[in-house]
Amino acid sequence: MEITEDIKYAGVSDFSTDLFEGQYLVPEGISYNSYVITDEQTAVLDTVDRNFTAEWLENVRRILSGRKADYLIISHMEPDHSAGIAEFMSQNPETKIVATAAAFRMMAQFFGTDFPERKITAAEGTELSLGKHRLKFLTAPMVHWPEVMVTWDMTDRILFSADGFGKFGASESAENWDDEARRYYIGIVGKFGGNVQSLLKKASALDIKKICPLHGPVLSGDLGHYIGLYDTWSSYRPETEGVLIAYASVYGNTKKAAELLAEKLAAAGVKCETADLSRCDPAKAVADAFRYSTTVLASVTYNTEIFPSMRTFLESLTERNFSGRRIAFIENGCWAPAAAKFMRSMLEKCVGIEFAETTVTIKSALNEASTAQLDRLAAELIG
Ligand code: FEO
Repeated sequence: MEITEDIKYAGVSDFSTDLFEGQYLVPEGISYNSYVITDEQTAVLDTVDRNFTAEWLENVRRILSGRKADYLIISHMEPDHSAGIAEFMSQNPETKIVATAAAFRMMAQFFGTDFPERKITAAEGTELSLGKHRLKFLTAPMVHWPEVMVTWDMTDRILFSADGFGKFGASESAENWDDEARRYYIGIVGKFGGNVQSLLKKASALDIKKICPLHGPVLSGDLGHYIGLYDTWSSYRPETEGVLIAYASVYGNTKKAAELLAEKLAAAGVKCETADLSRCDPAKAVADAFRYSTTVLASVTYNTEIFPSMRTFLESLTERNFSGRRIAFIENGCWAPAAAKFMRSMLEKCVGIEFAETTVTIKSALNEASTAQLDRLAAELIG
């Protein structure tokens, strides 16, 4: 795949993994992207996952067409991108390796060497000329590891953005970018919004023609759309006015209340989604909680607290700095409903959470009184 006349795609698609990073469902696979710049000197940008090193090496060899690789540029040391470093450096003894000081420390940890005779340490603003192509390295600490840098090709106006602007799904996958990039961003980078904002500030000074991330498609055309979403996500603003109803139900009575509320909201024209936390893709539910302006949490009372899938869901939100949203509660309990109080306590450290006035309390199953509460909650959310 040609990115520009001098820049080619050398990455691979992984359709064999069931869970990316051991936790994220990837029904359309995942790509590990790598790029090659051919100029008076040549540069290879990043390696790939260990299961695909041989395929990647062959891709690079084919693109270089007999030329040597002058530089291997490493933007991120997580093993889905760094696993091929030692083998590449062994096969290409003249190649110099470019990375941040923190990345070299990790190389020593992963491979037992940081290639002292061949390393070039990049810092903020370090430049490298390949001939016609002038590269500038910009650090992006904690997006989402500390050693990350991005590479700006000033000649072709290409931003090699590391994990930033990546998505689940192989490069050739036709999945909606917004949905799968949101699930990727919130799940993997979501905790580090302030660091992403710093990177976006640096990027705003660049006249970018294309963005080349380490996962998913190369982005071109209306880059403002993608950058705008990243600005929304990293500043923790809701993306969509609407309601997520996330529920944890055991025998179906809490689920029935959640679905009844969803019907009432939908009938009033409110955009609304439900998530059965014990069965859905948890990463999508978490991403949707960040997407929507309001989340309704519905849980049975369990071991005097809340159901395990709801606890895990709330921990996934709070550890990603969930903030600035409206929250409402539906609780159920056969003898001492306590779920709403417990869920609220888990969210109390979150900044800017507005709790709905109405809490729905169900004793075993919806009755006239709790259905009336549900009506009041619907009215409050419809506004
Ligand atoms: Fe795709 Fe953070 O590695």
